[in-house]
Amino acid sequence: MRTEPADSDLKRLFVHNRSLPDSRTYAEIERIERDWIVPLVARLEETTPPLASRAEWVEALDELLARESAGTPAGHYLAEKATLRQMTSVVAEFAPDGLTEAQNFFPAIPRLPIRAQMAVMRVLIDEFGCGNLQQAHSQLYRELLAELGLPLELDAYLDRTSDETYAFLDVFFWLTQRAPHLEYFLGALAYLEASIPSAFTVQARACERLGIAHGRYYTEHLHIDTFHRKEMQVAIREYEAAHGLDPTRLWVGALLLSELIGTAFETAVERAREAA
Ligand SMILES: [Fe+2]
Ligand SMILES: [Fe+2]
Repeated sequence: MRTEPADSDLKRLFVHNRSLPDSRTYAEIERIERDWIVPLVARLEETTPPLASRAEWVEALDELLARESAGTPAGHYLAEKATLRQMTSVVAEFAPDGLTEAQNFFPAIPRLPIRAQMAVMRVLIDEFGCGNLQQAHSQLYRELLAELGLPLELDAYLDRTSDETYAFLDVFFWLTQRAPHLEYFLGALAYLEASIPSAFTVQARACERLGIAHGRYYTEHLHIDTFHRKEMQVAIREYEAAHGLDPTRLWVGALLLSELIGTAFETAVERAREAA
């Protein structure tokens, strides 16, 4: 008799984080995070030289973004060489992100000072299409999935998503709800919003080259995340004004996200190429 492989910790973490947890599930969330994200952040903290000010954080972030703007071989492949099937595979890999876009940011709001809340809310309102379904980023992703003949329900993807993608999704639940300091979240989201206008040129180019009509999910981000990048710096400035700031924690959050999203993307392209 064939037995199904057990769900990985990171998949279970994603499912638990989206459920109404009882004390047992909550204990398992804490256990998985303690074995995974807590040591990852501790390692980054140990190996990252401390930053002295918000200005140093802005400088460090700009340098990281400039380095990453050169792209990667995987990005170049997807933009210029991938087949429609391979691009479809990458779109499917990130469906659990696209279909739930920005939902896992909300628990950060009550932990922020009011002026920082407003800046992050302006980002979130855009993510949800200013209340207009046709503009909501998850809806733009649904349209892309539909064009590629892929399922529109999250459940259809849970068994085929890689741990590398789950790590990228799971980290935000920890950052917003259990990380001891919110600066990690602010740094992580500031990095993500700032990196996307360059990173998504890859998928936007692939859509254009392959004749995919619903690439708007990507092109919309090229535009709107240039504003979100600024809002996140406003949020950080307001956080500092109200609470003071440890800029090293922002930087650790940015490095964490850079590592997790970079690995998820590389893995997605690798899997697409293997399957072809
Ligand atoms: Fe978005
Ligand atoms: Fe955004």
